[in-house]
Amino acid sequence: MTERTLVLLKPDAVSRGLAGTILARYEAKGLALAALELRTVDEAFSDRHYAEHVDRPFYPALREFITSGPLVALVLEGERAIEAVRSLNGATDGIAAAPGTIRGDFSASNRLNLVHASDSAESANREIDLWFPELGQV
Ligand code: TYD
Ligand code: MG
Repeated sequence: MTERTLVLLKPDAVSRGLAGTILARYEAKGLALAALELRTVDEAFSDRHYAEHVDRPFYPALREFITSGPLVALVLEGERAIEAVRSLNGATDGIAAAPGTIRGDFSASNRLNLVHASDSAESANREIDLWFPELGQV
């Protein structure tokens, strides 16, 4: 089952110089790049990306962070890519995330956690259409 998933290397990944290290893990797993671009997003775009979270108490700080500088947006493609990337990323909270995962190895924060990845086929379709409308659906 080949899938596509939307991944963000968040502003902390770019500012810490970890974008290449993180991207290498996805490539080493066998996932293929279908799109990749450096972007800086504004608050309105953040609200669309994080539509499910805009009313949560942590959202203002999350929006401040995600709009704070350039990030790398990419689409990865591969066998069960959505699950594969979530597994590589690890748990949301970097301290709780298992060592060996991206967050577990490189993040000690519940917000500055380096990466985003779509959490379902529906989210992937919505997020890919938002970030890379020119790509179309699989
Ligand atoms: P969520 O979708 O729950 O996590 P994930 O990125 O693992 O899918 O939350 C989105 C982002 O919001 C998360 O990556 C970091 C941030 N966040 C906080 O800042 N505080 C919180 O309490 C939670 C749950 C998330
Ligand atoms: Mg999520």
